[in-house]
Amino acid sequence: MCGNPTALADLHAGETVLDLGSGGGIDVLLSARRVGPTGKAYGLDMTDEMLALANANKQKAGVTNVEFLKGEIEKIPLPDNSVDVIISNCVINLSADKDAVLREAFRVLKPGGRFAVSDVVTRGEMLPEIRKSVLLWVGCIAGALEESDYRSKLSAAGFSGIEIEPTRIYRVEDAREFLSGQGFDVSALAQQVDGKFFSAFVRAVKPTVAKEASCCGPTCCN
Ligand SMILES: C[S@@+](CC[C@H](N)C(=O)[O-])C[C@H]1O[C@@H](n2cnc3c(N)ncnc32)[C@H](O)[C@@H]1O
Repeated sequence: MCGNPTALADLHAGETVLDLGSGGGIDVLLSARRVGPTGKAYGLDMTDEMLALANANKQKAGVTNVEFLKGEIEKIPLPDNSVDVIISNCVINLSADKDAVLREAFRVLKPGGRFAVSDVVTRGEMLPEIRKSVLLWVGCIAGALEESDYRSKLSAAGFSGIEIEPTRIYRVEDAREFLSGQGFDVSALAQQVDGKFFSAFVRAVKPTVAKEASCCGPTCCN
């Protein structure tokens, strides 16, 4: 539904990659190939079933620079400043505590590290019941972030260089059948839906100099 973060993210040999909500592990295995034997790819997932599937896929692929970790994306079981690139496909929108996810992503990234995820994002205001129904249809049970909220939360976590690039924009026609089935008059509500939900590639960078530390004198913080 979201996108393909491994195709979109820029990965280099020797880097350490972390996939938040790695599921069956395909993106982790693809990343492991791209960072090569001197790099490392971690997958993080909270369910034993997905970790078992991911480890079976790892065995089949015969790769050694891969590790699947059990845990929650709101409390990442990795040390501070240990990851070059965070990827994720359609998982952050599932979290009920997005501030914690972004704070943790920032913590584990090395200075200069990149956040490069696919996620569902909404644009502008809309009726809460429409928002809830369409997000249910898209599969985001906990709700997707509104575009400007996403930027604010990334910025509050400490990130810079924030970009949100739509990769698939949902049109009212995409959700017509589902919404009609829910009892909505879709034609009357078209403006509430059309173009307001999209899959996006969300990019940000952990600055090499911490925001507070870059404050150097009486004028530069103004
Ligand atoms: C929609 S699937 C996506 C899987 C994979 N990224 C992909 O593209 O195929 C969501 C995955 O995230 C995991 N997940 C959801 N919420 C999580 C959380 N808060 N912490 C860790 N894993 C989570 C689920 O167990 C599931 O494997």
